[in-house]
Amino acid sequence: MKKITLLLFAFASLLQAQVPVYLDPTKDIEARVEDALKRMTLAEKIGVIHAQSKFSSAGVKRLGIPDFWTDDGPHGVRPDVLWDEWEQAGQSNDSCVAFPALTCLAASWNPEVSRAYGHALGEEGLYRGKGMILAPGINIYRTPLGGRNFEYMGEDPYLTSRMVVPYVQGLQSVGVASCVKHYCLNNDEEYRHQVNVIVSDRALHEIYLPGFEAAVKEGKAWGVMGAYNLYKDEHNCHNQYTLNKILKKDWGFDGVLVSDWGGAHDFDQAVRNGLDMEFGTWTDGLTMGATNAYDMYYLSKQYQKAIVEGKYTTKELDEKVRRVLRLFFRTTMNKQRPYGFLCSESHYEVAQKVAAEGIVLLQNEGNILPIKPQGKKILVVGENAIKMMTVGGGSSSLKAQHEISPLEGLKMRLKGIGNVDFARGYVGDVGGNYNGVSTGQNLKDDRTPEVLIAEAVEKAKTADYVIIFGGLNKSDYQDCEGHDRKSMELPYGQDKLITAIAAVNKNTIYVNISGNAVCMPWRKQVPAIVQGWFLGSEAGIGLADVLLGNTNPSGHLPFTWYENLSQVGAHSFGEAAFPGIWREGKKIIDEEYKEGIYVGYRWTDKQKLKPAFAFGHGLSYTTFKVSNLKAVNAVTTDGNMTFTVDVTNTGSMEGSDVVQLYITDSKCSVDRPVKELKAFQKVSLKPGETKTVTLKTDKRALSFWDEASDDWKAEPGQFVAQAGDASDRLTCKVKFTLQ
Ligand code: GLC
Repeated sequence: MKKITLLLFAFASLLQAQVPVYLDPTKDIEARVEDALKRMTLAEKIGVIHAQSKFSSAGVKRLGIPDFWTDDGPHGVRPDVLWDEWEQAGQSNDSCVAFPALTCLAASWNPEVSRAYGHALGEEGLYRGKGMILAPGINIYRTPLGGRNFEYMGEDPYLTSRMVVPYVQGLQSVGVASCVKHYCLNNDEEYRHQVNVIVSDRALHEIYLPGFEAAVKEGKAWGVMGAYNLYKDEHNCHNQYTLNKILKKDWGFDGVLVSDWGGAHDFDQAVRNGLDMEFGTWTDGLTMGATNAYDMYYLSKQYQKAIVEGKYTTKELDEKVRRVLRLFFRTTMNKQRPYGFLCSESHYEVAQKVAAEGIVLLQNEGNILPIKPQGKKILVVGENAIKMMTVGGGSSSLKAQHEISPLEGLKMRLKGIGNVDFARGYVGDVGGNYNGVSTGQNLKDDRTPEVLIAEAVEKAKTADYVIIFGGLNKSDYQDCEGHDRKSMELPYGQDKLITAIAAVNKNTIYVNISGNAVCMPWRKQVPAIVQGWFLGSEAGIGLADVLLGNTNPSGHLPFTWYENLSQVGAHSFGEAAFPGIWREGKKIIDEEYKEGIYVGYRWTDKQKLKPAFAFGHGLSYTTFKVSNLKAVNAVTTDGNMTFTVDVTNTGSMEGSDVVQLYITDSKCSVDRPVKELKAFQKVSLKPGETKTVTLKTDKRALSFWDEASDDWKAEPGQFVAQAGDASDRLTCKVKFTLQ
């Protein structure tokens, strides 16, 4: 027996010896990386660090390492395009679940929902054969005109940090890489390829970097996407300061820095300044689709030639290739990956959950919501009640397996209960095609605004409820990549429509479909206002369930809802601060963030401005009380604090509230915001129930970025913590001291 065992063991270890380390799943990743690197030729190394098609880069055929496929986007897996065109590949197997936009996810203030979101998106990407999803987007909401705010997580760095980490972890838990974008300072769209952002170190570190830092340090993101714009006059896709120093040296990022598509512009910088995978480049004036475009990338033939000629060693190349190989062993070469799923019930449930937890009840005068539909006539008004929103908006556009519109959702939920009528109300954007994906809708309507408003008003006179679905959409100069809005007002004459309807029906409800705040000059005339976001496949269900009370809304605003642009820091310092001023004779526009750290509520607090709705605001169909805030330790030496606070449901319906903790530095050698969000927790309560919530903060929560020492600094002295369920509804406070 013993002999046989010995023979078997010898045979097995012989077999084992045959399997090269890089192919041995029992070996640790770093050993596999080094072994694969050793085996690769120069041409193979060059092959893996740049694109070979619109969304793929080469593997190493000879070594059995598969090609690497990426795809957009933050709200769902984009349909496949042709090898080297933006047009659709015309497949019939790539429809997906469209999840709610990330501003809705942020508005849920629920990190566990974010984890479920990332996990479901990861499963869809895995099923579709993607190694990396180009998501999430987390650029800070600096101006309500920002074209891509809908893809991001709001104005506050702490909320963004807490929500991005579980999303990245959920996505990567199935062996699909996240690619957190757009790093960094890509806060508006109009001149995104040319803008050079000038910002103080304090604002950079206290406002614009924390989300990315958390995604990398806590989320362990395997990918980060460089932004198009410049910082310190270098493009962020190859930037010595933001990539080599901050991302890779200071934060210890061990993943790949991927260029945004077409974000690389300089050969030597592409080699030396932190770029690992070059995508979408149009070098030497090449347009899309030139046959040998990929050979002409910066990190392609010319780099290989420069190495052969001795202009560069393989030092930078091997560093890039190690990172790319690490990505491969974490994803496509990872045998422990689970299975993928596409359009599964669980994914639709996640989409519904995000919608249910993210929709924000902004106003509900007279508690006319939820609607009591029994035998009532409900008039639905507005193009956004019928218009598909999953197509358009730029790279986050999707080919959804289905999209339930608000009108369809209400009809589904009200079948046989109340009768639903519709009036167009206004005509906005009747297009319905992006990148070859068509909504199939024909929204054409040649009636004049006056006729449309008259029809809606006439019907409103005899309706028990009127629900207007308005807001923005995914067309250019609205919530869309590549441009910013030109104003904060509602487009298409909606203000006139809303005002006219509210004048004839006291039960008017306005539902705003957008990723951005809009001016609402009529908000005192409209009793109920709901922020409905872009909710994706299950939009109509999510909205109907809130409006009918099947769901008790629990979303809270992830950004300040300004009355108008005069209340916005970014728009308070002239053109130099937004959108910037063209540099004489250059293709560079300098945009200086003159408001510094005073973004969002930090600005309105400092200027003592009262926005329409405050950051963190969100109502419920029940009522809550936040009270009895205590500091477990009134003095701290290491900066760690523990607080307890009571949250009570003082109403008659079960619901969730978001208790928020803001910290104030009573006395500091530098100017600091009046208060800053440093902890929060969503808590579900039955009527009459009280829960004591424990909130913890650390020294970073007390610190500011000290430009002199180029590091975080907390000055000893008194601090104040305030708690409540909105930044303008803080009902208890406690003092404590940092020694
Ligand atoms: C786009 C976007 C980026 C996207 C990429 C690929 O220009 O800026 O978010 O992931 O290109 O579509």
